[in-house]
Amino acid sequence: MQVTVTVNDTDHTREVEPRLLLVHFLRDELGLTGTHWGCDTSNCGTCVVWLDEQPVKSCTVLAAMADGHRVRTVEGLAPPGGLDPVQQGFSDQHGLQCGFCTPGMLMTSRWLLDHNPDPSEQEIREAISGQICRCTGYENIVRSVRAAAAMEQAAVQHQGAQA
Ligand code: FES
Ligand code: FES
Repeated sequence: MQVTVTVNDTDHTREVEPRLLLVHFLRDELGLTGTHWGCDTSNCGTCVVWLDEQPVKSCTVLAAMADGHRVRTVEGLAPPGGLDPVQQGFSDQHGLQCGFCTPGMLMTSRWLLDHNPDPSEQEIREAISGQICRCTGYENIVRSVRAAAAMEQAAVQHQGAQA
């Protein structure tokens, strides 16, 4: 079957098998290997991308289900020439070690801050509760998201002061 999926604002049309998972469509058909594939059980969450602005585990979605829809992957997170604040936060606060969980963590964190600009530690932990990190103990991930939130709030206040 033929599908057309808008990934990071670019349309991609491919012939795919009806059973092809979105995670494999992204990685194998489009070469977007930033989205990781970590389990066969829908548990690890490293495959999280946005489907029409909602975080989904891309190993639980068929490419056919994404036909005609918008997908954002970790490759589409950063603005040109820079880092998204959540990427900066993870970098500054050592929110990763091996980095395998990081793409999914970044996508969920970005979504969280878009909907809750000042999340509590508990809210961050709930947001990432469907995702597994074997390395960090989650402490630095929470710190990273808090740092990103603080960065964004400081930027908003700065803009307000200049207006
Ligand atoms: Fe583990 Fe999707 S690859 S939840
Ligand atoms: Fe290794 Fe999270 S940094 S799994």
